[in-house]
Amino acid sequence: MIITVTMNPAIDKTVEIEMLKPGGLNRIRHVEWDAGGKGVNVSKTIRELGYSSTAVGFLGGNTGEMIRDALDKREIENDFVQIETETRTNTKVLEADGTVTELNEPGPVITREQTEKLFAKLESYAGKHTLFVLSGSIPGGADDNIYAKIIRLVHKKGASVLLDTDGNAFRNALEAVPDIIKPNREELEEYAGLDHPVSEREILSIVREILKKGVRMAAVSMGSDGALFVYRNYAVRCPALPVRSESTVGAGDAMAAALACAWEQGFDNDRTVRLCMAASAGAVTTAGTKPPSRELVDQLAAQVQIRSAEEAVKPL
Ligand SMILES: Nc1ncnc2c1ncn2[C@@H]1O[C@H](COP(=O)(O)OP(=O)(O)OP(=O)(O)O)[C@@H](O)[C@H]1O
Ligand SMILES: [Mg+2]
Repeated sequence: MIITVTMNPAIDKTVEIEMLKPGGLNRIRHVEWDAGGKGVNVSKTIRELGYSSTAVGFLGGNTGEMIRDALDKREIENDFVQIETETRTNTKVLEADGTVTELNEPGPVITREQTEKLFAKLESYAGKHTLFVLSGSIPGGADDNIYAKIIRLVHKKGASVLLDTDGNAFRNALEAVPDIIKPNREELEEYAGLDHPVSEREILSIVREILKKGVRMAAVSMGSDGALFVYRNYAVRCPALPVRSESTVGAGDAMAAALACAWEQGFDNDRTVRLCMAASAGAVTTAGTKPPSRELVDQLAAQVQIRSAEEAVKPL
């Protein structure tokens, strides 16, 4: 069973206008919206790949209802803690020349009581065959240690955790030793306190230190440079698949979805890596965070090149 946790979901709204006139009247030509937030995006990709998950987190108000409906329509199980405050809407203003302006709401502040409700829900799903996907930022009101607390709580029941977050939330959660992590290059740089782009050699040594804590596997995504997949005694690198790029937003979420499916299906390393590269490259070919089709992912999986990470690491 896969449970995706989205602390701060959102309605992702895209409005299309000819040209943005600040301070003037802007007529919208076309509006589109979809349920969003990192964990929700992971659930959508899992569904598209033909597997299932339950989306959990906090939802409130009319926007919360819209997210619930959107998930129901896609037949994605969902079991959110109901809160009084309205779930946020993130608006992207898309101009004819391709310029995008983003207007992101902070989202509701979560109370202690609501957090306790979420913990009880998560505990009820936790078991040996459950993987929790903790992705995205932590909402206002919740403490920076919330992911660490969830990890400890569900580990006690034998469940596993895939972590995809950044900043303090990432650093603190690592102390509780998640099973799988999916940082991107910048997130690892920040974690390691480095102010220069990290080389693959540096990534390998940072990740190996993290694995020593007990983390089982790390998938480090590097955008159009591909990804590194590091287990305790196995490390490979894959160049990115040559796809036509429509939007790279959500490519990391697609990789997290692939990691979750591979865990649940018990895929071997080779098959896991292929699915990760194919799902994330597929996501790049779609608009916004729209998941790629299973058919495309299968085609791309056959094209993935897997190389030994040690060989690929360039001498300093
Ligand atoms: N331009 C691209 N062409 C092909 N594949 C890409 C491209 N950009 C990203 N990818 C694939 O997607 C994976 C994840 O991308 P990236 O490292 O940008 O994730 P991320 O920063 O976590 O993204 P997000 O958090 O916005 O979902 C990469 O490892 C790669 O496999
Ligand atoms: Mg990411």
